[in-house]
Amino acid sequence: MILPIFLALGILLPLQAFASVTIRKTGRAPTGHEVDFRYVNTTAKRVLIGGGIQPFTDQFHTTGTSFRFNGRYDPHDYQPGDFYVSNPSPQLPAQPLYKWPYEMKASEDGVWTYTAPLPSGIYSFAYLVNCNYAPNCSIDTGHLVIDPDLPPFQNVQGDQVASSFQVPFDAEFQSSPELNTNFDYALDAPEGHRGVVKTVNYTSPGSIHPAPDVHDFSIYLPAEYGTLPGKKYPLLYLSHGAGGNGADWENLGRMSHIMDNLIRLGQILPTVVVTPSFYNLDSQYGKFIYGNKSHSVPIPPAPHVRENFEKYLFPWVEEHYDVCQNASCRAFAGLSMGGVLTYEMFVNATDRFDYYGMFSPATNAPYIDAASVAANPGLLRKGIMVAYGLYDFVFPQARELQTALDAVGIRYINRVTPFGSHYWNTWQDELWWFGVKVLWKPLPFGVQTGRG
Ligand SMILES: *[C@@H]1O[C@H](CO)[C@@H](O)[C@H](O)[C@H]1NC(C)=O
Ligand SMILES: *[C@@H]1O[C@H](CO)[C@@H](O)[C@H](O)[C@H]1NC(C)=O
Ligand SMILES: *[C@@H]1O[C@H](CO)[C@@H](O)[C@H](O)[C@H]1NC(C)=O
Ligand SMILES: *[C@@H]1O[C@H](CO)[C@@H](O)[C@H](O)[C@H]1NC(C)=O
Ligand SMILES: *[C@@H]1O[C@H](CO)[C@@H](O)[C@H](O)[C@H]1NC(C)=O
Ligand SMILES: *[C@@H]1O[C@H](CO)[C@@H](O)[C@H](O)[C@H]1NC(C)=O
Repeated sequence: MILPIFLALGILLPLQAFASVTIRKTGRAPTGHEVDFRYVNTTAKRVLIGGGIQPFTDQFHTTGTSFRFNGRYDPHDYQPGDFYVSNPSPQLPAQPLYKWPYEMKASEDGVWTYTAPLPSGIYSFAYLVNCNYAPNCSIDTGHLVIDPDLPPFQNVQGDQVASSFQVPFDAEFQSSPELNTNFDYALDAPEGHRGVVKTVNYTSPGSIHPAPDVHDFSIYLPAEYGTLPGKKYPLLYLSHGAGGNGADWENLGRMSHIMDNLIRLGQILPTVVVTPSFYNLDSQYGKFIYGNKSHSVPIPPAPHVRENFEKYLFPWVEEHYDVCQNASCRAFAGLSMGGVLTYEMFVNATDRFDYYGMFSPATNAPYIDAASVAANPGLLRKGIMVAYGLYDFVFPQARELQTALDAVGIRYINRVTPFGSHYWNTWQDELWWFGVKVLWKPLPFGVQTGRG
């Protein structure tokens, strides 16, 4: 199998390939890199690139309250400091020069291509075939084709519906005085520093996916793991959000690369990461099918998920991996509804974890108060980060959570991602800073914590 991504190399397209994504270093404006998409389909009438390649904007033309009024730029018009935000309203009337999702051209019989200069960052995508209205074209309507030559990281087929790739930063074309948009911390670490990431099935009575009584997670084992007999590693649980699963963090967020780089640069001790899945733990809330828009199920309540993880997931992980066995080297973090689950762990599994990362948390009142703290003083001695994007739709909730923590005197590390909407570039940034500023730092946190 020939690798579909040729990074900054001469390109040889395998003749049999149905699809390829090629990242080329160009050494010229606007970004210093171009990305070529090529997809062979002889029967298609129209192909769009959907999934996660979002419109670009900049901080002077973006508001946190209405995406309707955001500047939205084609990547060919990229300027330093531009970034992408997840745009929930793609059906809005197009502005001049604005075309999204990106339209492929049939340049020869059945060969569809699209080339764009893209700046540093992670991009996920799928091909939308014969689709005239992107929000309606998902796996259930049969319009969505996953790049067969760049398959997603997943446990069983159907667990993910987009492929992804990462474009490097180029300081010559992407440096901006007002904003750092260098995401190279999520690129591959050098050889010798790369951990392993894989999916794992575990026994979880009642689970309905991927098999009866079997549930799954993904795990990151740092490069050093397995080389020092008897060594126990700090353990981070990292949750997905609504509509996701345990493969998201790797497939859409390159969690393993971020961890490799945090460890390699001495920001954290080698750490094991488990990314669990909170849907389909049992049949009570219906069967969640990834990406299926005509089949929606409720989000299982956080206390229900916590109880299930306490019963089956946590003991299984401790039994099967060389991970530490006490709170001081255990952390729980998660994005969006995973941030809600993290808050649940903080309040109701306080003694199990000493570190908590609430990333773009979609929490709601009632929050803890003085009485909760009096009844559970452990709440005051934790290492916490509350992070959210400047253009994140959960900005108000995350601020309310911070206000509640402030009111009872709980100190936390704060990160407001300056280019951040409710999307993967924000959550990558939050994981990075969680590592740099929070993980395994001495407790209790003070104003010097994370200052190096
Ligand atoms: C080509 O497009 C058709 C729809 O016209 C779709 O059913 C088929 O799966 C696509 N083939 C490939 C190889 O992607
Ligand atoms: C998209 O799907 C919705 C719900 O099925 C439907 O009402 C709407 O007409 C569709 N829009 C287009 C442009 O096809
Ligand atoms: C999506 O959900 C619908 C409604 O439950 C179901 O009929 C269909 O088989 C599902 N499609 C896929 C691809 O899972
Ligand atoms: C987990 O179980 C599912 C269903 O039996 C199977 O398809 C998948 O390959 C298994 N994954 C691993 C990592 O063993
Ligand atoms: C927690 O576990 C780690 C790793 O096993 C160990 O080094 C540390 O001493 C333990 N701490 C406590 C408080 O038991
Ligand atoms: C914690 O547990 C209590 C008692 O079961 C429950 O009412 C509450 O919703 C849980 N979560 C939070 C965040 O308080």
